[in-house]
Amino acid sequence: FNKESFQQDLLSWFEAEMRSLPWREDSDPYRVWVSEIMLQQTRVDTVIPYFKRFMEKFPTIESLAMAKEEDVLKAWEGLGYYSRVRNLHSAVKEVNESYGGVVPNTVENISKLKGVGPYTTGAILSIAYGIPEPAVDGNVMRVFSRIFSVWEDIAKPKTRILFEEIIREVISKENPSYFNQGLMELGALICTPTSPSCLLCPVREHCKAFEEGVQAELPVKSKK
Ligand code: ADE
Repeated sequence: FNKESFQQDLLSWFEAEMRSLPWREDSDPYRVWVSEIMLQQTRVDTVIPYFKRFMEKFPTIESLAMAKEEDVLKAWEGLGYYSRVRNLHSAVKEVNESYGGVVPNTVENISKLKGVGPYTTGAILSIAYGIPEPAVDGNVMRVFSRIFSVWEDIAKPKTRILFEEIIREVISKENPSYFNQGLMELGALICTPTSPSCLLCPVREHCKAFEEGVQAELPVKSKK
């Protein structure tokens, strides 16, 4: 496995193929944060119009911090999982009051915020601040379980930590934002749960599961 070559193949592909999505227009930490929370349990196509409307209503940390809970919930109506938006609202107020409206840029401070778990911490730090932190969700575990032919059960909490360790080793220090987004994009467009499009995959030559012909059997995921 050649790390530099893997990074280069992933980054070139992402630069060429990335979808234009409204949260990719800039790297404002607040916009990245809102988009990542919306995307946690909801599909990209569903999120797009909600994200645009939410940003028109609450364009800044301050505007969301000052908004009435009722209006915030209304803007989320239809997305479901309302604890996401309650936590977001409360965390945004905290950022407004304790950090002068600036989203923290350290793992320690950002992961103290309500609703901001390890995945969201890594996504905000890498995409908004260019800090090389892993952002491991189910898609990223699927991609890497295939790349390195990892047969650990991805339903187990310990397995995410294993993948974070792997990604810490291979993440691009020059462009952690595109590296992490490239992995998400690869998981969404190519390295799909069933029938992955290996013949179109930009990192096929780095993929152990493809070499062994076991990509359809990975990841291992027990039923809960
Ligand atoms: N899924 C989770 N985060 C994403 C992002 N930033 N872009 C596209 N899909 C995603």
